[in-house]
Amino acid sequence: MQPSDIAPRDRLIVALDLPGVAAAEAMIARLGDSVTFYKIGYQLAYAGGLPLVRQLTGAGKKVFVDLKLHDIGNTVARGVESVAALGATFLTVHAYPQTMKAAVEAGAGSGLKILAVTVLTSYDDGDLHAAGYRLGVSDLVEARAQQAQALGVDGLVCSPEEAASLRKMVGHQMVLVTPGIRPAGATAGDQKRIMTPARAISAGADYLVIGRPVMSAADPKAAADAIQAEIAQALA
Ligand code: C5P
Repeated sequence: MQPSDIAPRDRLIVALDLPGVAAAEAMIARLGDSVTFYKIGYQLAYAGGLPLVRQLTGAGKKVFVDLKLHDIGNTVARGVESVAALGATFLTVHAYPQTMKAAVEAGAGSGLKILAVTVLTSYDDGDLHAAGYRLGVSDLVEARAQQAQALGVDGLVCSPEEAASLRKMVGHQMVLVTPGIRPAGATAGDQKRIMTPARAISAGADYLVIGRPVMSAADPKAAADAIQAEIAQALA
C-alpha cells in the first residue's frame, strides 16, 4: 500500500484503553465521526470488549486488536484465526520468528493484517539490557524488522523515532504504525520514545496510535479533531 492510499482521517487510531464496554461505548459515541479507527487492547478485551470489534466494523469503523500474541506456533495460529473471524483489520504479535511465521500463515487469505511489535515504546537500551538482551533498541528494532519483512508480515509497530530508518529499510511494502505519540505539551506518562503527530507523519508513519491524550482529555472529540488537523496539515 502506498501512503497516499490511506485517507488522512483513517491514520489516527484511537486506543480505547478503558475499563469496560459501557465506558468504551460512551467514548465511541462522544468521538462520533471524528474517529474511524479504534484499537482494543488488554484492558478492554479482558473486560468483555472483544464483541465491540463486530459492533464497530458493523458501524463502518476499523479495528486494531492489540493483543500482542506470543506463544507456541499452533496456539498463535488458532488465535489469529479467531481474531480474523471477528473482522479486525490489524492484530499485533511480538516480533519473534516462530510467532510471526505462524501468524502470517494463519492470517493468509483473511482480511486481517499482522503487525509485528518490534520493541515496546516504553523500552530504552537500559530496559532491554535488564531483560537480558545484548542489542540496544535501534539494532534490535532493525533486526526484527528484517525478519518480519522476510516472513511476509504486513506491518510493524515501532516508535516514531525509528519510523524514518524503517521506512528506508522496508519501503512501502509494510505499514508502519507508531504509538508513543504526544501532541505538543502533553505528558509522556510511561512512554520513553515519543514524538508529536506531525513529526511522526513526516518521519514516515502510516498510522498513529493515540490513547491517553484523547481518553484523558477534558474534551476527547476536540482532542481527536486537533490531532486529525495536525495529521492532515503534515500530509499537505
Ligand atoms: O496512552 P498512549 O497514547 O501512550 O497509548 C498508546 C497505546 O499504544 C497503548 O494502548 C499501548 O498499549 C499501545 N502500544 C504502545 N507501544 C507499543 C505497542 C502498542 O504503546 N509498542
